[in-house]
Amino acid sequence: MRAWVYSKAGKSLASALTLSKTARRPPSPLPADKLLVRVTHMSPNPADHKVPEIGQLASLALTRSFTASPGMDYAGVVEEVGAKINNTTTSRNAVSYKPGDKVFGKVESTPFGTLGEYIQPFPNGCVPLPPSVSPASASTLGTAAQTAYQTLIPYITPGAGDEVFVNGGSGGVGTFAIQIAAKVLGCVVTTSCSSRNTSLCSSLGAATVLDYATTDIASALRARGQVFKLVVDCVGGSPADLYTAANDYLLPSGTFVQIGGDFSPSALCATASRAMWPGFLGGGKRAYKFLVMETRRDDLVQLAQWMAEGKIEAVIDGDVYPFEEAPKVFEKLQTKRTRGNLVVKVSD
Ligand SMILES: NC(=O)c1ccc[n+]([C@@H]2O[C@H](COP(=O)([O-])OP(=O)(O)OC[C@H]3O[C@@H](n4cnc5c(N)ncnc54)[C@H](OP(=O)(O)O)[C@@H]3O)[C@@H](O)[C@H]2O)c1
Repeated sequence: MRAWVYSKAGKSLASALTLSKTARRPPSPLPADKLLVRVTHMSPNPADHKVPEIGQLASLALTRSFTASPGMDYAGVVEEVGAKINNTTTSRNAVSYKPGDKVFGKVESTPFGTLGEYIQPFPNGCVPLPPSVSPASASTLGTAAQTAYQTLIPYITPGAGDEVFVNGGSGGVGTFAIQIAAKVLGCVVTTSCSSRNTSLCSSLGAATVLDYATTDIASALRARGQVFKLVVDCVGGSPADLYTAANDYLLPSGTFVQIGGDFSPSALCATASRAMWPGFLGGGKRAYKFLVMETRRDDLVQLAQWMAEGKIEAVIDGDVYPFEEAPKVFEKLQTKRTRGNLVVKVSD
């Protein structure tokens, strides 16, 4: 099959990718608890390049292979259904597939990532594509939208008008977090981004947009007083720490949820300090959680339904990239300046 593969990412996965037209296909016969899906679209996420760029050991631990294709999120077409798949009750939503079904979702760490033509997802990461949703849009739901969903749903009372601050509203997760909070849950959303993305964030439903290049975000939030129920931090630790400042802008019952951050020593220290530095020694006093997204079939079904109903939409950065240009999407992702999500067309 055709696949972009790497064996050693070095400092840049984009430059380590090579296009193979004879790449190894996922195992045959198909395991009974998996599906075989032909990928039509994939959407990359920062973790796709950050983890291999830590070093070959991290990549090996993740994929258990010396050669792998990156990518977790996809839309595609079912080619084959594992013997134990249909009529299982792994979720509230019945599982039933046949070859030819259009699907989308997320694969877990594997050598056969979504930047290759064939993948073998488990049914919890494979959901029917609603007829009115385009595969390109659905390919962005697996990680970006699902992460946004899981940062909001446990903490927000729908329709109560809770105030939410989304730090980094213009990226893959942020664009979904703004929409789910404002348009689905009825929250009043404040967000941060640079000036080129202000109108995008407003159009997605943010009531207040702060330009992080010209505004001291912590001071601007402090000036609002203790009004926020939730912070969704898509950026991570910074010198003027938003978490410590949250003592002054989060409600005493509010929660600070962080998802963003790098694997650099300074970023890891900033995250560890948020989690462990006690409030009585000058640390943050509000509830803090570092969320690691889990793939859940019911969450994906709900997100697809909201997309089909027009409550949320995928913000796709530029055009859908042709398969041959896939390294360009990783170059772009590395800049941390993606607007919404990037999408690659993998096959017809
Ligand atoms: N924990 C988990 O399970 C999980 C899941 C998904 C993602 N993540 C992590 O969450 C983070 C966000 O993911 P993503 O997919 O949304 O990333 P992304 O799409 O690459 O984010 C890019 C966006 O971040 C904005 N940005 C950059 N620096 C900023 C700053 N200082 N303040 C505000 N906005 C800033 C940029 O806006 P401008 O261009 O306007 O600067 C750009 O639109 C990443 O670190 C990713 O690894 C974690």
